[in-house]
Amino acid sequence: MLAIRTGQKVEFSEQSLQKVTEIINRYPEGKQKSALLPLLHLAQDEFGGWLSVEAMDYVARMLHIQPIEVYEVATFYSMYNLKPVGRFLLEVCQTGPCMIRGAEKLVSQLEEKLKIKNGETTTDGLFTLKTVECLAACGYAPMLQCGEHYHEFLDTEEKVDQLLDQLRRKAAANN
Ligand code: FES
Repeated sequence: MLAIRTGQKVEFSEQSLQKVTEIINRYPEGKQKSALLPLLHLAQDEFGGWLSVEAMDYVARMLHIQPIEVYEVATFYSMYNLKPVGRFLLEVCQTGPCMIRGAEKLVSQLEEKLKIKNGETTTDGLFTLKTVECLAACGYAPMLQCGEHYHEFLDTEEKVDQLLDQLRRKAAANN
């Protein structure tokens, strides 16, 4: 997937800069590249839930590495988003055990209910649907991750409806 350039300047908050220093200091001198994954997480959290070209270049400068080294990593892992995402990113596991237990049906139901395809975001900006590989909760299949939470045994339409309702209520309560 091609990364997106926004033309906007990105800069970590004072608090995040302290965290950056703390993370980089975990590694020996000259091995600062090892801090790349946590720094990308930090950048994604701080810059709206996704990584623009500017955000990745910023991280490259902090670590004194080439931008291409950051792009290679950010495009490899599904936990990094290379385009804007909705408020709730629904990451549906599609690996074997989840697939056997109905992941395909779960994706279809979400596509139908949200009126989007896999990889897209709803027009109200609330939901993005994404399929990912094993999330290490195979015994609770089929499942999805939304932010820090796992939602498991999503094997009926009622459970999918309940989850979407719950997230919509949460969004409404925070508005
Ligand atoms: S296969 Fe879905 S969590 Fe492992």
